[in-house]
Amino acid sequence: MNQFISFADVAELDTLIAQALRYKQTPLQDSQLGKGKRLGMLFLNPSMRTRLSTQVAAHNLGMEAIVFNVGQDGWALEFEDEAIMSGNTVEHVKDAAPILGKYFDILGIRTFPSLQNKEDDYSELYIRQFIKYAGIPVVSLESATLHPLQSLTDIITIREVFQEKRKPKIVLTWAPHVKPLPQCVANSFAQWVNGWGNAEFVIAHPEDYELDTAFTKGAHITHHQDAALQGADIVYVKNWSTFTDYGKIYCNDPEWMLTRDKLALTNQARVMHCLPVRRNVELSDEVLDSAHSVVTAQAANRVWAAQAVLAQMLKTIAS
Ligand code: CP
Repeated sequence: MNQFISFADVAELDTLIAQALRYKQTPLQDSQLGKGKRLGMLFLNPSMRTRLSTQVAAHNLGMEAIVFNVGQDGWALEFEDEAIMSGNTVEHVKDAAPILGKYFDILGIRTFPSLQNKEDDYSELYIRQFIKYAGIPVVSLESATLHPLQSLTDIITIREVFQEKRKPKIVLTWAPHVKPLPQCVANSFAQWVNGWGNAEFVIAHPEDYELDTAFTKGAHITHHQDAALQGADIVYVKNWSTFTDYGKIYCNDPEWMLTRDKLALTNQARVMHCLPVRRNVELSDEVLDSAHSVVTAQAANRVWAAQAVLAQMLKTIAS
């Protein structure tokens, strides 16, 4: 595996999941695989789970993981080719990335979208420029449009919590929020559930919150949350801002918060959220603190997903 920025980079999902679950059983089984190798982790935005779980995963593989908060400590980077750098940006990615390629064996990048310019965000300019210029494998720690380490974790968690022979009914439901959030987690979850192909998949959101059909194609999409929740085995709660009229909050109806009453419509569903979560805005306390919630187990699984991905990259480097 030379890059991990989307579901398209996964050759065999079942193999990746099986490896992650083996690491969960025996975390240090490949503790020599990354010996002498370094993972550079660049954060252009804040993170707790992605940063720490990926560091733990790297350490489990014997790698050294070095974190650099670009947004806080680094020079302001320019990403546009042929830019005239007379503004606020100090260093071009074309100059910075090859140096990082010399310091590290694998590069992790965390970026967010601007939510101002859909074309720029959906072209994934930042992460693609790092891939172009770093010359080493790049793993997305969340990009402008996708969050593949989160989504791999989500599929692993669904596999663990739903063990019946039939396909689960999975509902991705929009929830209110106080500020416009990226579509990354929702896009990515849709891409991976569709790619996995082992679920009845429903996406529920208010009008005007349609996601990019490149990711949702294959899912049943509805504006009726209660109907969507009927018989659900898994409910994934997430806010996102508008995609069509990009980066806006239109409806922010508190009725879309997942409450105990809404959960009663489901088939004793397990409730997921990528975290961080706005309590009593996206999900009520009574749901988050109930036995239905698997958010802690889900976040804990981030380590094994990251470890499986890093291991595949290390094997590619060694081959
Ligand atoms: N879910 C997730 O990516 O969490 P962080 O923003 O804390 O990394």
